Amino acid sequence: MSSLDAGLDESAGPPSVSKRLLTTLVASADAIPVAPTWDPGSEHGYDGELAAVLIPAGTLQAKITELARAVAADHQLDTPPLLICVLKGAVMFVTDFARALPIPSELEFMAVSSYGSATSSSGVVRILKDLDRDITGRRVIIVEDIIDSGLTLSWLLKNLATRGPAAIDIVALLRKPEAVKVEVDVRYVGFDIPTDFVVGYGLDYNERYRDLPFVGLLGEHMYR
Ligand code: IMP
Ligand code: MG
Repeated sequence: MSSLDAGLDESAGPPSVSKRLLTTLVASADAIPVAPTWDPGSEHGYDGELAAVLIPAGTLQAKITELARAVAADHQLDTPPLLICVLKGAVMFVTDFARALPIPSELEFMAVSSYGSATSSSGVVRILKDLDRDITGRRVIIVEDIIDSGLTLSWLLKNLATRGPAAIDIVALLRKPEAVKVEVDVRYVGFDIPTDFVVGYGLDYNERYRDLPFVGLLGEHMYR
């Protein structure tokens, strides 16, 4: 059985019902390596730069539909939820997610930067662009691309909580194993992935590769 079908790794303790239903474990072995005759980067002008496709575009879209249905089932309210997209990484995800949601939603954008190297964050966060409006009394859903250490998200959660929202939920497309080290209750997760550095579908390395429609593994020669 491919680990794409294996579901959540149960070793970390019993997951909540929604996590059990939603998250899919993707192992390095699931990656589709670049065959000599096929270079997934070349269709997008990144010839020879990607080592593998980790999550194909169709698999991402199917998961986003599943996440959107689960979120909608929990948010049948009078006021539409306010989706807060964390720029820039979550931009592809939020646009597909909002369109897959079978209920109305509203959009807000926030840009944060965590000091650190190109491939790891430090937890010291700075707001580059704040929300345009008050979120007092609103039901907020933070839409994140990836949780790595979880430091950025736990900072953001504390920051938004001081603004008096009615509730804050988090939907993250990807999560790395390190994320379990930080106490952040992420209700909706798309895929649990290995610690490898991934790019595409909004995720960058030095601002490149965000435009790819799939999540791929960057060739080691590109960053080592
Ligand atoms: P954290 O604070 O360590 O959880 O890192 C969060 C941010 O780091 C994410 O929102 C991404 O922007 C970035 N990041 C973490 N892992 C990756 C990766 O594998 N590829 C690209 N960006 C990443
Ligand atoms: Mg991000």
